[in-house]
Amino acid sequence: MATLRLGDIAPDFRAESTQGTIDFHAWLGQGWGVLFSHPADFTPVCTTELGATARLADEFARRQVKVAALSVDPLDAHHLWVADINSTQGVSVGFPLIADPDRQVAQLYDMIHPNASERTTVRSLFIIGPDKRIKLIITYPASTGRNFQEVLRVIDSLQLTAAHQVATPADWQQGGEVIVLPGVSDVEAETRHPDGVRRVRPYLRYVKQPG
Ligand code: BEZ
Repeated sequence: MATLRLGDIAPDFRAESTQGTIDFHAWLGQGWGVLFSHPADFTPVCTTELGATARLADEFARRQVKVAALSVDPLDAHHLWVADINSTQGVSVGFPLIADPDRQVAQLYDMIHPNASERTTVRSLFIIGPDKRIKLIITYPASTGRNFQEVLRVIDSLQLTAAHQVATPADWQQGGEVIVLPGVSDVEAETRHPDGVRRVRPYLRYVKQPG
């Protein structure tokens, strides 16, 4: 198994899920995707993460992002757990949970970090673009739940920077100023951003968020 890096094609796979068999690339279609792993079913932090993701279903849909969760537990456990998540988190999980009892997908995506656990996945999260390439990888330990507002914020940045020649600064939020890429000349920047360029340094230039 090769290490996955940004820009690599997300490995394709076929697996069973709570919403039927998934052929991953076909399931992604032409849009964006999030694939994220959980150490185990019926664990507290994972339960809150899946609840948080379900609550944000409209936000993911608005960004045309499909979400799939994964753990190395079997499908029957997943079905029972989804019912429990819905009950304890007050949600209706509308995205698939992939069952990976033989660790096929976990291996493909390097989600098992033996120094953390020999048997279960860490909290890996991959954001995949419409070109099926990996745009972002984050890895959290089992003890720390992820921030799904941050996942949405990153998706906003990825989608914005894919469409326009800009970058987003630290702590950027939707609607905030963005940064002109170093390779873009001042003349080009002024042309592209008629609302003006705030030039702090030759290499540090801010413009209104385009689009
Ligand atoms: C949890 O999801 O709560 C969890 C899973 C494995 C280890 C620690 C916490």
